[in-house]
Amino acid sequence: MDHAAFARFWRNEIPRAAERDSYQNHWRGLCEIVRHPFPGVDPNYKFERKVQKVGTKDTGFADVYKAKHFIAEYKRPGRDLGAARQQAALYAWELGNPPLLITSDFARIEVNTAFTGTSPKTYLIGLDDIEHNQVIKGGDLTALEILNSAFHAPENLDPRHFRERLTTTATRQVGQVALRMGQREGKARAAHMMMRLVFALFAEDVTLLERGLVTRVLERSRAHPENSQAYFQELFRAMKGGGEFWGHDIQHFNGGLFDEADALAITSDEAAALVEAAQLDWSEVEPSIFGTLFENGLDEDTRSRRGAHYTSVTDIERVVDRVVMEPLWAEWDALRHGLQKMKRQQRIEQLFAFQDRVRGVRVLDPACGSGNFLFVALKKLLDLEYQIRSAVTMNGVGEFEMPPLVHPKQMLGLEIEPFAHELASITLWMGYIQWKRAHGGHWETPILQHLNNIQNRDALLNPDGTEAQWPDAEFIVGNPPFLGDKMMRAQLGGEYTNTLRGVYADRLPAQSDLVCYWPEKARAMVESGVTRRAGFVATNSIRGGKNRVVLDRIKATGDIFMAWPDEPWEQNGAAVRVSLFAFDKGMETQKTVNDQFVSDITADLTSRIDVKSAVKLSENGGRSFIGTQKGGAFDIPAELAQQWINAPNPDGVENADVLKPWVNGMDLTRRPSNRWIIDFALMSEMEASRYLMPMAYVVQHIQPVKSQNRRENRARHWWRFDEPASNLRAGLAGLTRFIGIPRVAKHLLPVWLPEGTLPDSQVVSIARDDDFTFGVLASTTHRCWARAQGTYMGVGNDLRYTPSTCFETFPFPDPAPEQRADIEKWARFVVTMREHLLAQDTKATLTGLYNDVVRLRAEPDATHPVTALVKAHADLDKAVAAAYGWDWPLSEDDVLARLLALNLERAATA
Ligand SMILES: C[S@@+](CC[C@H](N)C(=O)[O-])C[C@H]1O[C@@H](n2cnc3c(N)ncnc32)[C@H](O)[C@@H]1O
Repeated sequence: MDHAAFARFWRNEIPRAAERDSYQNHWRGLCEIVRHPFPGVDPNYKFERKVQKVGTKDTGFADVYKAKHFIAEYKRPGRDLGAARQQAALYAWELGNPPLLITSDFARIEVNTAFTGTSPKTYLIGLDDIEHNQVIKGGDLTALEILNSAFHAPENLDPRHFRERLTTTATRQVGQVALRMGQREGKARAAHMMMRLVFALFAEDVTLLERGLVTRVLERSRAHPENSQAYFQELFRAMKGGGEFWGHDIQHFNGGLFDEADALAITSDEAAALVEAAQLDWSEVEPSIFGTLFENGLDEDTRSRRGAHYTSVTDIERVVDRVVMEPLWAEWDALRHGLQKMKRQQRIEQLFAFQDRVRGVRVLDPACGSGNFLFVALKKLLDLEYQIRSAVTMNGVGEFEMPPLVHPKQMLGLEIEPFAHELASITLWMGYIQWKRAHGGHWETPILQHLNNIQNRDALLNPDGTEAQWPDAEFIVGNPPFLGDKMMRAQLGGEYTNTLRGVYADRLPAQSDLVCYWPEKARAMVESGVTRRAGFVATNSIRGGKNRVVLDRIKATGDIFMAWPDEPWEQNGAAVRVSLFAFDKGMETQKTVNDQFVSDITADLTSRIDVKSAVKLSENGGRSFIGTQKGGAFDIPAELAQQWINAPNPDGVENADVLKPWVNGMDLTRRPSNRWIIDFALMSEMEASRYLMPMAYVVQHIQPVKSQNRRENRARHWWRFDEPASNLRAGLAGLTRFIGIPRVAKHLLPVWLPEGTLPDSQVVSIARDDDFTFGVLASTTHRCWARAQGTYMGVGNDLRYTPSTCFETFPFPDPAPEQRADIEKWARFVVTMREHLLAQDTKATLTGLYNDVVRLRAEPDATHPVTALVKAHADLDKAVAAAYGWDWPLSEDDVLARLLALNLERAATA
């Protein structure tokens, strides 16, 4: 069926479409249109994907799920797609947050983007759009381009691409008008006028103002420039308090932006240029870059005077995620897991309480510029609140009973430049309106509230020369101005510089760069307990010379838990280097430098023990392997494999040759899912065809997709895995069992795997079958090393275990026979304990057991069943330490220092 036939068919079919019966047919139709295989048995792409319902013991089913692509939810024709989206969002959290949430009621398909750090975007595709492949509103892509991307390349739908283009064009067009107007009327007045105009254009495109109204005002101003001032005054007056304008009701906007209704006149040329700009879809402007670009066009002098420069969304997220979101995500995770044990009423109360918690969060950016950090933080808080609201609806509470309450007023800003300050408020409001528009929500009036949360003032000194105070906030983030100490006098004036240095003389040396004052003030707020965590982007000069004093002070009263010591940056066209760092009072135990776990971060933002200087040890070579990458749904349920295993083949080959038990990372971290895989290894097509049933399955389910693969070799060898991992197979030959370690997991979890098991690429296999190796790999000593060598994976603090760094560099102990026997004994005991605990509770997972282990280490409870496992690990740790000749326990630093010394010694004598 092609796209036109699909549209015609479903137009007729809709009256008969009942969600349960029809949605799979509808979906298959879409698959045909975009030439994509139907969902199958692969848990990474299937109908009815099982999901744990947040906060309940129940499981739900996502209608369609494709890993790293989308979750799709259907509703009956005409039903509210908002509810479907909410459900999809909740499932998304459980299924690794794929970037698209697709909802459909058969007549409409809504493709909602959910890429991190961007405002969401919704493409609404109707059957007519599909039939005629029309460009879909809100972007420059056609219906089929959007559907194709959703199935094959979701990154094409990242709104950042489109919005960046749009925002650049839009701000350039209005910037040119503002420059001309500025020459005539003065920069500040022109900027203020343009900002109101831009907001009016945005309001028109998000339909808060009558569509086309502002455009008509501009068109009339082009024809009658002498009246333009009066037109705008009238419009702004109506927006100020609500009222009528040119026969239309205008909502109450205000919020400071429209405090005064006076407007500037514009020339006919300026009106013409603005009419052109009005053709763009201003509702799609990207708030995280809008302010920056807008300001760029206007304010060259101010920027260099105050050392302003701008931050990429990636860097903003590095700071905002670590400082603001990770503690909240951790609280959310803990709550979600805890909910299962509660009664419904208590669950609902807890969810409401957590919403209160999130709406009570205050984030301060004390040098907020045009508000980009604050916008990113706001958007992430809104996303989190959306999860909570979705969880409440899952527990049977109507969605209106928990209205959205996270609000721009939670974002506190300080900014010295009046124009940037005003832009910051606008950025937040535009981002907020976009978000609400995409997620559904009512509008309060006035639409822009007059908030005092973003203040136009100096963050360091009051006008009378005393020290400025900051508003209380749980989290502080930002990118304070970069101005070297020698430039301060020239740029800020002698008097200001002297006063500043005088006021802070008891804390910072006079030679400190301007940037140091911000972390010092944040440090004091963390020390006093008002603020929980703070993080900044600063020039990397903060790490050395007199600037280091501020970092020493942070270490003295708390600790640094994140650092990116040396990142590239651009300031006014010149390349500079910056450091990102975050700190608290010393509570955070997960410390990272460049996203790698470290035991301690020094005041120069590096790690004292440079484990990265460790080298690969020849004795560990050829023993650790990454598993196969199947590149298609080769995995099958165990029952199917059992049926085929005894089925005969014409020339007598046994299906058992090509059917193997299969494990992926989740089988290790949760419970085995008991799946098998069809593995033709490197067989030719002819050889593989001798295995009738397995080959028939591959022909039906895999060939149609794989033979389209852009990589020719993969397309040609469609019956083989993308990466058959030949080294792994050779390495495991002759072993009756081997050790599997999940590649990305919260805990380092070595697990025994039986001979013949085929691990996938999310499992690292260690080709050893002895208890001694297992015991050492399961010990705290190895865990310290792996964490320091491995990479840190954002949400969940997961560790990525990389064979070349975590395993190959690891110096195993060289024990005496009785020490070895001791390790072997405790290793066996750990395995037995795990098996026993998992057998007792059929819902328990290995990750769950080790969550308990970690908790019980901190809060011992002799009555808890997992205590025996904790004890077994403690004995194992002692035995491993003894094999190294160490006393136990040791600090993490000591472990790393000793292992590093041993590594370098072994490498030198090899
Ligand atoms: C590096 S910019 C960062 C702005 C924004 N976060 C960004 O990335 O676009 C620093 C901001 O600090 C502001 N600033 C400079 N000195 C200040 C002071 N003493 N008090 C408050 N803000 C100040 C500048 O005007 C500028 O907007």
